Amino acid sequence: MAEQWQKHDMDFLGGRRLRRTRQTAWSRAMVRETTLTPADLIWPLFVIDGHNEKTQIRTMPGVERLSVDLCVQAAKAARDAGIPALALFPNTPDQLRSENGAEAYNPDNLMCRALSAIKSAVPEIGLIADVALDEYSSDGQDGLVRDGEILNDETVAVMIKSALVQSKAGADIIAPSDMMDGRVAAIRAALDDSGFEQTQIMAYAAKYASYFYGPFREAVGSGSRLRGDKRTYQMDYANSDEALREIEQDIVEGADSIMVKPGLPYLDIVRRAKDSFNIPIYAYQVSGEFAMIELAAAAGAIDRKGAILESLHAFKRAGANGVLSYFALEIARDLGK
Ligand code: PBG
Repeated sequence: MAEQWQKHDMDFLGGRRLRRTRQTAWSRAMVRETTLTPADLIWPLFVIDGHNEKTQIRTMPGVERLSVDLCVQAAKAARDAGIPALALFPNTPDQLRSENGAEAYNPDNLMCRALSAIKSAVPEIGLIADVALDEYSSDGQDGLVRDGEILNDETVAVMIKSALVQSKAGADIIAPSDMMDGRVAAIRAALDDSGFEQTQIMAYAAKYASYFYGPFREAVGSGSRLRGDKRTYQMDYANSDEALREIEQDIVEGADSIMVKPGLPYLDIVRRAKDSFNIPIYAYQVSGEFAMIELAAAAGAIDRKGAILESLHAFKRAGANGVLSYFALEIARDLGK
């Protein structure tokens, strides 16, 4: 009786046995919908002053801040592994930080020195320069602060000056991560006026006020300074329609590509952006996401390499053209084996 019932139930499946294509490795390889290559990976580097100097980041095990000469070596390794571009973030020495963040447009600042050193030694790799004040200001905010308010237009004026010194130093892509209104158009106009028509803008278009940036703030030295939060300029994590408006606005203003940030908790935004716009989309697997994988793996809770590969494929599946990831070098090397 029981057997008859089961037979009947199985008949209902007919030809739709979805497990059939999963039975062997070769078949799984044939039906695979997304692939990951080194060209999908952008590697963020933290830059410090000094020579042959590297420092640990407590909350990012395995990631080190590097002096400019070591950044050059890292750039060579990245190029050899097939990574197309690096994203640079300076840890500005304390004495150079100020309320007005003037170090951001010092043509000889750490960022510019790293850009020009890498550009001349490793011209084949793309250089993405972050534009925001938190890496230069004394208060850890991405914009200028007056009486507790983050000033928009005054900040944009500083962002323009910062983008110009970075372009002169060798940045190929300017990546404003400050979330001020109107900064993409303003930076585009300034670049064009100064002969940098070919310098791209990768806009951090949908950047959320996120708890997942904690380790990054330790890495660039802004976290302990930060008073309050960034919710008057970065987006509310409850919103998604608003992300599309932000992206649309940055495209209208002249962005060449856009970024969604953080990554894994915001894959719905990546997918909506992919379905709505015809522009390259990058996602940032941010420091807190990195830390979650590393610390969970260290605790024996998950398989480290497996979880990394799964997370990176998830970005591609969601529609990202590429991923900024602290795992980039390791994974690009693995993929090349
Ligand atoms: C701000 C900036 C941040 C990150 C990149 N650019 C931090 C913030 O907005 O507070 C975070 C990246 C990460 O967490 O890995 N200039």
